[in-house]
Amino acid sequence: MGFNWHDIEIIDFPKIADERGNLSFFESKKELPFSIARTYWIYDVPGGEIRGGHAYKKLQEVVVALSGSFDIVLNDGQSTKRITLNRSYMGLYIPKMIWRHLENFSTNSLALIVSDKHYNGEEYIRDFEEYKQLVSWI
Ligand code: TYD
Repeated sequence: MGFNWHDIEIIDFPKIADERGNLSFFESKKELPFSIARTYWIYDVPGGEIRGGHAYKKLQEVVVALSGSFDIVLNDGQSTKRITLNRSYMGLYIPKMIWRHLENFSTNSLALIVSDKHYNGEEYIRDFEEYKQLVSWI
């Protein structure tokens, strides 16, 4: 177990500092380790709410705090890690089969998520006990 932790990483995106305002970017298979199939964003989160308590069977993703801050809580079936995202030039890469949820959203925070797959409900593992069973076999 713990098979996937080493794959989780913070990605530092380029930051073009400019007196007119900073600019950052990523491109598929360059700053991102995959090709983007889907982009979505989470916003207007009421204080104290939690989003995204699940794992994906094969999907990988990168999460960016474009504005404000929030925590991503990761679990590999054995241990938990909490990572605070609060810089718009940093992304968190999360491989497949990691349980994750987002919480502690600041007011007006904006979470951007890019993933290598289109939306497919079949990709989700929504039951933590089922998830733990699945990772214990790997
Ligand atoms: P979901 O991923 O279940 O959010 P959370 O894990 O935070 O509860 O998504 C909520 C709803 O939005 C769900 O009914 C599916 C829909 N959805 C899409 O249609 N496309 C998408 O790309 C995403 C992320 C969600």
